[in-house]
Amino acid sequence: MEEVLTVKANINENDLKALNSSFDNDYLGTWANLAKENIFFKETFNEILDESDKPHYKWFLGGKTNISYNCLDVHLKDKANKTALIFEDELGEAQTLTYKELHEKVVKFSAYLRDLGIRKGDRICIYMSLCPESIIAIQACLRIGAIHSVVFAGFSAHALRDRINELEAKLLITQNAFIRRNKKVELFKFAREALTENQSVTDLILFDRVTGDTELDEDTNALKKSLDIKIHKPIQDLLADKYADIQNLTTLEPEWLESNETSFILYTSGSTGKPKGIEHGTSGYILWAKLSTNWVFDLKDEDVYWCTADIGWITGHTYVTYGPLANGATQVIYEGAPNFPDKNQFWNLIEKYKVSIFYTAPTAIRAFEQWGLEHIEKHDLSSLRLLGSVGEPIGSETWKWFYENIGKSKCPIVDTWWQTETGGIMISTLPGVQTAKPGIAGPALPGIHAEISEDSLLHISKPWPSMLKGIYKNPERYKKAYWSLIEDSYLPGDLATIDEDSYICIGGRNDDVINISGHRLGTAEIETALAKHVSVLESAVVAIPHKIKGQGLVCFVVSNNNSGDLSNLLTAHIASEIGAHAKPERVIACAALPKTRSGKVMRRLLQDLAQGKDISGDISTLEDKSVLEAIKSRI
Ligand code: WTA
Repeated sequence: MEEVLTVKANINENDLKALNSSFDNDYLGTWANLAKENIFFKETFNEILDESDKPHYKWFLGGKTNISYNCLDVHLKDKANKTALIFEDELGEAQTLTYKELHEKVVKFSAYLRDLGIRKGDRICIYMSLCPESIIAIQACLRIGAIHSVVFAGFSAHALRDRINELEAKLLITQNAFIRRNKKVELFKFAREALTENQSVTDLILFDRVTGDTELDEDTNALKKSLDIKIHKPIQDLLADKYADIQNLTTLEPEWLESNETSFILYTSGSTGKPKGIEHGTSGYILWAKLSTNWVFDLKDEDVYWCTADIGWITGHTYVTYGPLANGATQVIYEGAPNFPDKNQFWNLIEKYKVSIFYTAPTAIRAFEQWGLEHIEKHDLSSLRLLGSVGEPIGSETWKWFYENIGKSKCPIVDTWWQTETGGIMISTLPGVQTAKPGIAGPALPGIHAEISEDSLLHISKPWPSMLKGIYKNPERYKKAYWSLIEDSYLPGDLATIDEDSYICIGGRNDDVINISGHRLGTAEIETALAKHVSVLESAVVAIPHKIKGQGLVCFVVSNNNSGDLSNLLTAHIASEIGAHAKPERVIACAALPKTRSGKVMRRLLQDLAQGKDISGDISTLEDKSVLEAIKSRI
């Protein structure tokens, strides 16, 4: 059904054959050549892969580079005046930055951070919306070798506090507020709350993102006064020419990091109650961010690329903040919601900026479908030439709808499978060579060894350059979570099947990780949050299919609170412990949870009940069958 690209693709059939046979003949040598051809190394590496401390694999040992240098400085000769970022917010305010302008701002900000005493290895927490200043802050951290950890602006004060504490962050970069769906989201208020009883943060840099709001300014000033840490000039002043010491500074020697030194830590959910700080290195990560962007999105100099992910998630790292910049691309970034000021917003932006590559999530596509064609048909989307999907299974029906109605049956779709841990895309068709099959991600990319075990476990049987370094402060969890089941293979936790063309179809998770609107969460994490509430004696959280969000949550709660308001109370509690994106669809109060004789909660049964199904499978281990009957009557 789908056409492969007719224009010359970055990877054509011959390139793919040559690449694959090169990897087959000399796996490490091929990676080494790709690294030398694509990455600027200040000092070249002396070993391609060190396996002596596996699964803590080390790539490009001894090489020295800097991610920010590879995203910005490398373009100053040929692309200085090319637009790097086109930014728009919900109110229609727009801003563009060329590579030269972006570089200048990053250099200024890095100089300020250095002046302030931030050094290589220091942790900096960034709690901001998607805007040029957040990208500048991230790039500035990278430039001086400070380890940044972005916390999604939708996360609550509690979630932010937990991350700051584990990281022992020295500096927090945040903003007064931002506007989403015409409402003020007062980030600094949450940040202030997160800093209560804080031990490590000594400095705070605030971006006055929202200006001209007296009430907000008064609140912000009061909050500032209540903090006993150094608060610096607002970002806009640091980036303008007001900061005298660095105003003429146009360059700043980056910190050259050894390939395996940490560039960033991004927290993600796993199957226990505590999120994992996924640590990424330097050379291998940026190599794959650059290459995979180029190969999968077939990025050309004249393209206008738009990935709708937020910087708080891995897609907003690899395919907004790094990959497109490393390729010298022009990209659109949009801060607001897709349905504000109205449901035309995305199509307005595509038409206005002549977006040619559009990368989004199935949850958004399902919402577009529900909002109706009338919003789409009004717009000229003929600039689009390639579409992408990420974060959750797209399913063949949504795929077809996307293909026909957004791509007008002429744009290939890349359905990209990957994870926070993998650093970049692992499975996808290549648009110049392979035809997509609706709802099936595709083959593993060149150099990636994805395999499926007899019991359908997807695993990666060779180390690859952008793999995670480990879990921050938790090497044991790293080994146990990813490397303990299949020898020398990385286990992502997804189930999959593979067909005769080596196309891999992702079949969902094999653990308690769920995906709400493409946002990864763990049911255990929600249960841990619920346990903190005085009304909760015990809880079990399960996922149910959701028409738009992909999955939704149902919480079964044994409570001592019979006020009748339990659902609202606990929904608000989850939002405050984790964030609004984790709000459940339903909270069901019950007298007891179904358990085995050894006391294990039988979530499988609750899952059936939550989905309105008859109980399937064995219930012989269930201790008290009347518990199920009692829950059924509450549903
Ligand atoms: C799921 C997001 C099906 C998968 C980049 C994975 C997908 C988890 C796809 C990682 C896809 C991601 N098809 N499922 N194309 N892409 N997933 O870390 O379960 O937020 O393990 O990274 O999302 O989520 P994460």
